[in-house]
Amino acid sequence: MKISKNMQSALNNQIALEANASNSYLSMASWCEITGYEGGASFFYAQADEERTHMLKIVHYLNGLGVPAIIPATKLPASNFKSLESILKTALASEKSVTVAIHKMVEIAQKDKDHSTYAFLEWFVNEQVQEETKFETLIQKFELIGRDKLAINEIDKILAANAAAPADTPA
Ligand code: FEO
Repeated sequence: MKISKNMQSALNNQIALEANASNSYLSMASWCEITGYEGGASFFYAQADEERTHMLKIVHYLNGLGVPAIIPATKLPASNFKSLESILKTALASEKSVTVAIHKMVEIAQKDKDHSTYAFLEWFVNEQVQEETKFETLIQKFELIGRDKLAINEIDKILAANAAAPADTPA
């Protein structure tokens, strides 16, 4: 089975996006850890692992088709963060841009009548819905619980609980 050059290049670009997302979450996890947000650290370390599995899914898909996956250099991630809330907002914005990239790939697959890649991408489409909802719900907690020290401690515990959620483990 062949996939178009355009699709190959989009999938290889997506490998880079997922690798950068993984690195960015790793940086957030490390900041949380050094700042004393244990829940945030567990949550973002797990999130970084998750993005790496997304990257690997695409690597394996391309290589399985005999198309060499390109392992990219990653961008230097931000490392100085203002607050737990600002990190979560940055993460949501990043997820939204990943969603846009995935939807563009779906459009390429449709245009190419590339049913296999279309089916492959379905998992990512659903994953992005879950990811955006997860971050939106977590950000809402600041309105619901508050932003004082006790509230943030509570939210940190919620992040810990979300890090352990088996639903976050990709197939
Ligand atoms: Fe793999 Fe959260 O985008």
